[in-house]
Amino acid sequence: MNIIIKQEQVKDYKITEKVVKCAFANAEHSDKNEHNLVCRIRNSNVFIPKLSLVAMDNDDNRIVGHILLSKIRIKNDVQVVESLALAPVSVLPEYQNQGVGKLLISEALKKAKELRFHSVVVLGHPEYYPKFGFKKASTWV
Ligand SMILES: CC(C)(COP(=O)(O)OP(=O)(O)OC[C@H]1O[C@@H](n2cnc3c(N)ncnc32)[C@H](O)[C@@H]1OP(=O)(O)O)[C@@H](O)C(=O)NCCC(=O)NCCS
Repeated sequence: MNIIIKQEQVKDYKITEKVVKCAFANAEHSDKNEHNLVCRIRNSNVFIPKLSLVAMDNDDNRIVGHILLSKIRIKNDVQVVESLALAPVSVLPEYQNQGVGKLLISEALKKAKELRFHSVVVLGHPEYYPKFGFKKASTWV
């Protein structure tokens, strides 16, 4: 297995959506509609092409994973802050638990920093995401 992470290209869109659908087919917390979410975000003004990444298995030139960070605004009574939402992250079942998700998340966070975003929000498993630096939202309440 020889994985590289690249920006998703328009020609990848349909294949990526199949990968997302397949990744979530047996996922516990899923509405089985994540591939349509990816499509909707790509067609919206919150889409940042540089933050839609694919994992390619270079041995057979195949997309095996995908991650998307898109723009959000966090508001309270006094201020509005630009941030990013991480959703979804997907790895084909036969490639799971081999570090592909970790590579996708690390690279997406690195790129977000390069683009001068200051925060990323995720709704996800409390044991998976802290290793990338995520903390509970209640920390800031
Ligand atoms: C979640 C997902 C992206 C992780 O990618 P991956 O390539 O399998 O993960 P990695 O191999 O990089 O990391 C494996 C680690 O994550 C943990 N892990 C994997 N899936 C997990 C899950 N659903 N919940 C909690 N922990 C999980 C493993 O126990 C392992 O932990 P370790 O590093 O301490 O040994 C992938 O399993 C997937 O596509 N799942 C289905 C879709 C999904 O649930 N996406 C996340 C919600 S947006």
